[in-house]
Amino acid sequence: MQIGFPSAGTANAAMVGVTPSAVQSFIDLGYHVAVEQGSGAGASFSDESFADAGAELVGHEQAWGSDVVVSVGPVGPDDVARLRPQATIIGLLNPARNPELLSALALAEITALSLDAVPRISRAQSLDVLSSLSNIAGYRAVIEAANEYGALFGGQVTAAGTVKPARVLIVGAGVAGLAAIAAAGNLGAIVRAFDLRPEVGEQIESMGAQVVRLDSAHLEGVSGKSSDGYAKEMTREQASSTATMYARESQAADIIITTALIPNKPAPELITAEMVAAMKPGSVIVDLAAANGGNCALTQAGERVVSDNGVIVLGYTDLASRLPRQASQLFANNVVNLVRLMTPEADGQCELDLDDVVQAHMTVTRAGEITWPPPAVSVSATPPDEQSSGSVGHPPERPEKAGGSLRPSQSPAARRVLVGIGALAFVVIAANSPPALLSHFMVLALAVVLGYYVISRVNHALHTPLMAETNAISGIILVGAVLQIGSSSALVTVISFIAIVVASINVFGGFWVTFRMLSMFRKDDS
Ligand code: NAI
Repeated sequence: MQIGFPSAGTANAAMVGVTPSAVQSFIDLGYHVAVEQGSGAGASFSDESFADAGAELVGHEQAWGSDVVVSVGPVGPDDVARLRPQATIIGLLNPARNPELLSALALAEITALSLDAVPRISRAQSLDVLSSLSNIAGYRAVIEAANEYGALFGGQVTAAGTVKPARVLIVGAGVAGLAAIAAAGNLGAIVRAFDLRPEVGEQIESMGAQVVRLDSAHLEGVSGKSSDGYAKEMTREQASSTATMYARESQAADIIITTALIPNKPAPELITAEMVAAMKPGSVIVDLAAANGGNCALTQAGERVVSDNGVIVLGYTDLASRLPRQASQLFANNVVNLVRLMTPEADGQCELDLDDVVQAHMTVTRAGEITWPPPAVSVSATPPDEQSSGSVGHPPERPEKAGGSLRPSQSPAARRVLVGIGALAFVVIAANSPPALLSHFMVLALAVVLGYYVISRVNHALHTPLMAETNAISGIILVGAVLQIGSSSALVTVISFIAIVVASINVFGGFWVTFRMLSMFRKDDS
């Protein structure tokens, strides 16, 4: 099959859907690769580099006439007309806002996969184009803000006086928001961030930013998490209760970067015209949600607006393609991963597997039918709703439920009786056991207490490496078992053998997991 990459057109103009190294990956999967001439120029990929990688350079119509078409720009009715019957198109189709496009694709019997409909589950991360682009857009938003802001981000003490650091407020700490937090923090600003989802508070803090907390009076009824791991839309009352916080925070901020998004909904208006009017002249708002209506009342999609009091509001919708080389590289890698999933035999034949939840979720039209919206995919990592209350910065109260069942509540008197019985049982057992058993028991009890306090104070993010290292304690068991395996007792030999096998899994498995995690942070040359 031929896989074609037409130029991006007007939106994402500088980006290209494929890179020379991705061309090689598609060839390895058995495809004939057709790249539109000149389409890589904006991202500094020459036609020669594509040709050298094995691609055929073709015209616009030929690229659109491929069996599988990958579009990095928006797809219009003219483009649908260029597709060959039974073709497959992969692109940012924005199905929630493009019902006419879906109808046209279904009518033409095109199989369409939307790259902005990737479910946010672990297995699909390697093909999540939105995350790739949002990550770059969050970084670029800070660069745009720094360019407009007439002062340094970092504070300085100089002979000529003291310069205060800029105060940056990030609204929405998803992929783009977290990238913006990192970039603004690296430039030296004081960064504060707010998100409706309680679980991201830890991530905000781990990036070095302060979590914006709601007053408890404003907290009532605001719990932004939905069952799929995304925030849910706020009610009118909830919106007005967070408005007080936005008014306070926006007045103190020099830069605001808004990224608040509820999937398939218009962006909520969070920064009102009155709030902008109360901001300092020269302050900057970068509204990443501009394409979906904007989080700020003054935002105009694609435009730079200056308010009456001199606040600059940027509604650029092409932030990722303002860093076209890396945006194209990540986009192309995501598409390679998708096509690899659809070409299990590496024989150049693209086969849609609707039993695969990722492919089914992304498929918006097939065999003349519109298959969007897909059934909801539950994000298993998200704890159930009732275990949390409030928003970021307000940790949920310790749940009464443990392991899904309610723990019976005990009265203080019953607890005292139980402790008494336990102590009595211990004295009786201790009095009738050999001294060695008692000393082993003391070591065990101290190890349990020490282990509990050490492990419970380690950040969640470090649990896996910690466990991997502590699993090396299994090495002690291993040594003991090796010493015992030659025993004359068959029972001791069997137990020693089992201990060696189980402890080895622990030791080598632990180090293997650590190695894999550390590799994720290693820079490679590609
Ligand atoms: P995401 O879903 O990862 O993050 C959105 C975050 O906003 C979530 O953490 C959610 O909990 C939070 N949120 C939702 N409603 C909120 C509210 N009322 N108050 C506070 N937080 C709220 O999305 P991602 O990938 O980070 O994208 C963010 C935005 O950036 C989207 O609107 C996306 O379309 C846009 N974007 C814009 C680009 C541009 O060039 N302008 C490029 C890429 C993305």
